[in-house]
Amino acid sequence: MTDDREPVAHPGHRPGASFHEMWRDLLPIGRHTETGGYRRYAWTGADADCRAWFRAQAETRGLGYEEDRNGNQWAWLGDPAAGDAVVTGSHLDSVPDGGAFDGPLGVVSSFAALDELRSRGARPAKPLALVNFGDEEGARFGLACVGSRLSAGQLSAEQAHALRDGDGVSLARAMERAGYDPEAIGPDPERLARIGAFVELHIEQGRALDETAHPVGVASAIWPHGRWRFDFHGEANHAGTTRLEDRRDPMLTYANTVLAARKKARTAGALATFGKVGVEPNGVNAIASLVRGWLDSRAPDEETLAAVVGEIERAAVERGQRDGVEVTVTRESFTPVVEFAHGLRDELARLLGGAPVLPTGAGHDAGILSASVPTAMLFVRNPTGVSHSPAETAAEDDCLAGVTALADVLEGLACH
Ligand code: GLV
Ligand code: MN
Ligand code: MN
Repeated sequence: MTDDREPVAHPGHRPGASFHEMWRDLLPIGRHTETGGYRRYAWTGADADCRAWFRAQAETRGLGYEEDRNGNQWAWLGDPAAGDAVVTGSHLDSVPDGGAFDGPLGVVSSFAALDELRSRGARPAKPLALVNFGDEEGARFGLACVGSRLSAGQLSAEQAHALRDGDGVSLARAMERAGYDPEAIGPDPERLARIGAFVELHIEQGRALDETAHPVGVASAIWPHGRWRFDFHGEANHAGTTRLEDRRDPMLTYANTVLAARKKARTAGALATFGKVGVEPNGVNAIASLVRGWLDSRAPDEETLAAVVGEIERAAVERGQRDGVEVTVTRESFTPVVEFAHGLRDELARLLGGAPVLPTGAGHDAGILSASVPTAMLFVRNPTGVSHSPAETAAEDDCLAGVTALADVLEGLACH
């Protein structure tokens, strides 16, 4: 079978059978037939299929399976109550038309690494667990890492209940429809207290590793990042009869704000993206009454991020005054800078024979958990750097190198 989302096989290489089989089984779930991208959104049918897959993988291996109060899935080797567990995993949900690797590579590699540990005859002295965190991308309800944020106490049950998707369905209702109890969600300090170290393997979302001879790297830090909703309120009117000088067109203000965001980010060495937009009434021959644009912004430090977003907001308001458009800005989420635990990070780099250590601009459950437990990440080389797109890819040899690296790390952390 050839497929551009399959890890690319190198001639003569015998791929890890368990990795291959798992990858093949996951591949069709939630894949859109026309775009080839993944639409695995929280609490949908595709999400349920991914969850069923995770559970089946756990049970096939004789692992202890559990779902926590926030819908995160866990597979245990050893006694969870013993504490100081070594945990690995990632997520299975996707952004709209996402790639096959962001999330699933970490989950599949976790099971494959466990298989490798077993085939090595390794004997863990500590409990090991694999995890699939729910709703990491926030594609449906707008907030990323909902499963890990809830567990870590960084999102309250009330805040989560208030989240709504684009159709107005609340997170609580969506959970209920999927057979989960939304009243049970909330902080889970007891479960997190069982974890001695959490290691998330992830495809790299850039090309830093591609510029080295290394297929696997270790994360140093995650840039602070957040999402802001910009509402541009104008006045609906006829596109054919309203004189230009009489218009209050929020599309103009929005367009200028997009350009300003790019300029401010470039000047500050930051990132700013309007990747999602909603328009009302959304008619070809009507001036919009409302444009709603979501800004995703990230920077090397929190001060720079605050300055960039502040400047973008100022630019929007100033332009709005010229256009007769009122601008309101709502911060929908914010994740502070994450500096991964230095001891664990250095230990991983040592276990992997001097793997490169690199920062990332992408958010992860590992970043959320890092406030509660020692956390680290492994990145697998991405030859194009493309991510959050169906074109995301990695070479099969590199994926298998990732599995071996993760197995080495788990063995180093849990077996000695
Ligand atoms: C998650 O992938 C994010 O960085 O938004
Ligand atoms: Mn992602
Ligand atoms: Mn991810």
